[in-house]
Amino acid sequence: MKSHDLFLLLLIVAFTVSISVEAQNQAGFISLDCGLVPKETTYLEATSNITYKSDANYTDSGLVGKINDAHKKLVHQQLWALRSFPEGERNCYKFNLVANRKYLIRGTFVYGNYDGLNQPPSFDLHIGTSKWTSIKIVGETDTIMREIIHVLTQGRLQVCLVKTGRTTPFISSLELRPLKNSTYVTESGSLVLYNRVYFSSDSTSIIRYDEDINDRVWNPLTEDDSTASISTDQYVNTNNIYEMPQVVMKTAAIPKNASAPWNLLWTIDNTTALSYVFMHFAEIQDLKANEIREFSITYNGGQPWYGWFRPAKLSITTIYSQTALTSSNGEYNFTLAMTGNSTLPPLIQALEIYTVVDILQLQTDKDEVSAMMNIKITYGLSKKISWQGDPCAPQLYRWEGLNCSYPDSEASRIISLNLNASGLNGTITSDIIKLTQLSELDLSNNDLSGEIPAFFADMKLLKLINLSGNPKLNLTVPDSLQQRVNIKSLTLILGQNMNPTPKKESKTVLVVAVAASMAGVFALLVILAIFFVVRGKKGKSTDARGPPPSITSGIVKSETRSSNPSIMTKDRRITYPEILKMTNNFERVLGKGGFGTVYHGNLDDAQVAVKMLSHSSAQGYKEFKAEVELLLRVHHRHLVGLTGYCDDGDNLALIYEYMANGDLRENMSGKRGGNVLTWENRMEIAVEAAQGLEYLHNGCTPPMVHRDVKTTNILLNDRCGAKLADFGLSRSFPIDGECHVSTVVAGTPGYLDPEYYRTNWLSEKSDVYSFGVVLLEIVTNQPVIDKTRERPHINEWVGFKLTKGDIKSIVDPKLMGDYDTNGAWKIVELALACVNPSSNRRPTMTHVVMELNECVALENARRQGNEEMYSMGSVDYSLSSASEFAPGAR
Ligand SMILES: *[C@@H]1O[C@H](CO)[C@@H](O)[C@H](O)[C@H]1NC(C)=O
Ligand SMILES: *[C@@H]1O[C@H](CO)[C@@H](O)[C@H](O)[C@H]1NC(C)=O
Ligand SMILES: *[C@@H]1O[C@H](CO)[C@@H](O)[C@H](O)[C@H]1NC(C)=O
Ligand SMILES: *[C@@H]1O[C@H](CO)[C@@H](O)[C@H](O)[C@H]1NC(C)=O
Ligand SMILES: *[C@@H]1O[C@H](CO)[C@@H](O)[C@H](O)[C@H]1NC(C)=O
Ligand SMILES: *[C@@H]1O[C@H](CO)[C@@H](O)[C@H](O)[C@H]1NC(C)=O
Ligand SMILES: *[C@@H]1O[C@H](CO)[C@@H](O)[C@H](O)[C@H]1NC(C)=O
Ligand SMILES: *[C@@H]1O[C@H](CO)[C@@H](O)[C@H](O)[C@H]1NC(C)=O
Ligand SMILES: *[C@@H]1O[C@H](CO)[C@@H](O)[C@H](O)[C@H]1NC(C)=O
Repeated sequence: MKSHDLFLLLLIVAFTVSISVEAQNQAGFISLDCGLVPKETTYLEATSNITYKSDANYTDSGLVGKINDAHKKLVHQQLWALRSFPEGERNCYKFNLVANRKYLIRGTFVYGNYDGLNQPPSFDLHIGTSKWTSIKIVGETDTIMREIIHVLTQGRLQVCLVKTGRTTPFISSLELRPLKNSTYVTESGSLVLYNRVYFSSDSTSIIRYDEDINDRVWNPLTEDDSTASISTDQYVNTNNIYEMPQVVMKTAAIPKNASAPWNLLWTIDNTTALSYVFMHFAEIQDLKANEIREFSITYNGGQPWYGWFRPAKLSITTIYSQTALTSSNGEYNFTLAMTGNSTLPPLIQALEIYTVVDILQLQTDKDEVSAMMNIKITYGLSKKISWQGDPCAPQLYRWEGLNCSYPDSEASRIISLNLNASGLNGTITSDIIKLTQLSELDLSNNDLSGEIPAFFADMKLLKLINLSGNPKLNLTVPDSLQQRVNIKSLTLILGQNMNPTPKKESKTVLVVAVAASMAGVFALLVILAIFFVVRGKKGKSTDARGPPPSITSGIVKSETRSSNPSIMTKDRRITYPEILKMTNNFERVLGKGGFGTVYHGNLDDAQVAVKMLSHSSAQGYKEFKAEVELLLRVHHRHLVGLTGYCDDGDNLALIYEYMANGDLRENMSGKRGGNVLTWENRMEIAVEAAQGLEYLHNGCTPPMVHRDVKTTNILLNDRCGAKLADFGLSRSFPIDGECHVSTVVAGTPGYLDPEYYRTNWLSEKSDVYSFGVVLLEIVTNQPVIDKTRERPHINEWVGFKLTKGDIKSIVDPKLMGDYDTNGAWKIVELALACVNPSSNRRPTMTHVVMELNECVALENARRQGNEEMYSMGSVDYSLSSASEFAPGAR
């Protein structure tokens, strides 16, 4: 029986011969020779008569390459050149095609050692937002071909190459062939080709266009011990919808032993895969009067798949599965057996096997996609590596600078667009108005000119526009927009070029029109005013800041992000003997922070904190030096400034400004004595720390991830102004178990972003998570982890408590009820959004700052007994985590 089994294997295709006679209609074919240069080139490929052209019009990225000359004679011309994608995780080809049309899409890959590395790569292919298949190149000259039959629900198609490891994806040719949409029908999903074979007596040639007018690729399967073949010279009527090639139908295989059942077998590795099979038959023998060819087809020994069948004379019949087939062990065994009346053995001409993949059509709203494409073209943003494929989907490959909403069964929508420092020039494009769900827009630090468009006023959901740092922009605010600013439904940040420091302070241009209350701003001004008095008296400050704020006709001017020289202008490098002197031989320990012990010191009459770094924690001197140089340039009023450093022999030290009032944790716990921080203090500390963190994320080049945001890293100066400490050492000082041991705070693990922990993929959003935990501490004054609580982790505990809808049960009882309930709800919702397990759903720090400003405003309003004024400015960040916890009535 075994000898009658015919095994079909997945073939790796090597082109050998191919015949083509008459040129036929290539209507609708798209045939790209990837990496072909110059990009206007087109040519008629000699063996197929298919016209190939360069792929340059269909992708924005990638490098062109050529396979090793020695391999050229083995493969067709369209495989000589290739395009590789060393940069970016996902790179895409995009096509504008006919919606609802069915396409055969084929990618071909010949490595040919184009990069000289002898390292055949592995990577994935995606259609739009879903994975199509994995590619693993093994041999230098292997030709890998992948096909999918796919219906486009929209008029656009994206074929993407996605990195899966270190190797670089590449593609040699990409071909699209429209198919009749009544062919290859599935219940659902698209069809990935497993194999497509035709039975041949001796030919080993692959059949393609133009024998096959749809340019399907047919692999030959020649007869073996158990089979024989029959063929005809007569014309076979191939006129069914599958449009089979004549050459394929002219030859059929038959089993040598006519009476024995004939098994066609193959194995699909994925045992959960769904499969579709198409078999093509035609009677090509002249049957005598007494001859009958009739057979049944059964599948895996079950009920007949096709009860009895007589192939029609010289005319094609296609038998296929109307529903998907499965096999629990992955084996597919089709048995063709003569029926009792039959005098002739079964026959078959061709066989196609496919597996199903679900190509999700959930993509970004198509108007928003075309708006984003226009924006990309208008501002020449093709160099943005991640701006490939669908803007929002899949979430993993979302375009940099975008945030999207992902409703369950509808298209994704863009909710924020950040084009900070993206080299935009010209006027602000009206394409932005098509992003109707946009709530935040950041166009800061570009070279935009012209006027602020009035259409912003019509974008109802827009809450934040940042236009600062565009020196050529006419900052006249249109009336309609000003109205929205006035009613506080929109925050508009204007401002001036931040690179050069302003020459004269009086020329400082307006910066912020805050949706938060004037009262809040007032409070800030008072604090600043006090500060300037203090500063004036002392005559010296360790604080670096921008120009002071002032008010002009209702629009507030405030700091810009210019970096003023700090106190240590000359050489900030300090010797070890000087350190000894400064600290009076390490007389007074201030505490133990990450990476080392901190001592009190005096430098030029100013107090400083000297952090001696444990030498073992540094990865290397060079990295240390580079980071310190970087940190010395970071100045922000809410970041603890680095004023100098020491790298004297084995002694590494960092010298920071002194923060007289210790850290936030101590102050909350009452360890430092004194009064418990008031709600107002807490809101201000929160907003200040948030501003510091926001600056690390958005104001620094390169952006910095703090990695260790926690209450012990928020330090308070003598005026209870908050500053964030211990940032920037992330790269040369990995934060790992060792560092946590040296940290006195037991809570650090509780601050760790679970997604970062799981994926090891660090982003600003990890800091947002930690900051959310800090916010919860500020509100509740509870330990981050407490095993004796109903829920040990503070996030879960707050969520648990809030299911009862009672905010009072979580707010720090030491406040004795002296806080604003709306503000408390707001900050807790914000905190829960920050600690969302999925980093994509966490807000940005820009957003956090904005929301916290409103909390400060609410608190101030309460203090002035003037609450209703703020009701309309209240903004809820509609993130799932907040609603998951479903806070009850407020
Ligand atoms: C390609 O087409 C041309 C023009 O129609 C024809 O003369 C030539 O024979 C064809 N070549 C092949 C290989 O089919
Ligand atoms: C690329 O697009 C341009 C403009 O649409 C067109 O003129 C050109 O012929 C195209 N080139 C190729 C190789 O398709
Ligand atoms: C079939 O394909 C045509 C284009 O060839 C398309 O216009 C039509 O909508 C498709 N029909 C269905 C039912 O998808
Ligand atoms: C052909 O198959 C039949 C049924 O399986 C078997 O009895 C017979 O021996 C086979 N003949 C040959 C020549 O193998
Ligand atoms: C196996 O097939 C199932 C069903 O199509 C699919 O969900 C799954 O991803 C496949 N697994 C692999 C490893 O391809
Ligand atoms: C295939 O199915 C036939 C009929 O059920 C059975 O006799 C044969 O052993 C099967 N072959 C394999 C390899 O499972
Ligand atoms: C043989 O063919 C006749 C006439 O078509 C039919 O009635 C009979 O059931 C068939 N027998 C078998 C075993 O298929
Ligand atoms: C924008 O910058 C590009 C490249 O520097 C330049 O070619 C173009 O003319 C500029 N456009 C405007 C409107 O200034
Ligand atoms: C800015 O725009 C306003 C309103 O269109 C206009 O009146 C004003 O002259 C412009 N200013 C400059 C400097 O172009």
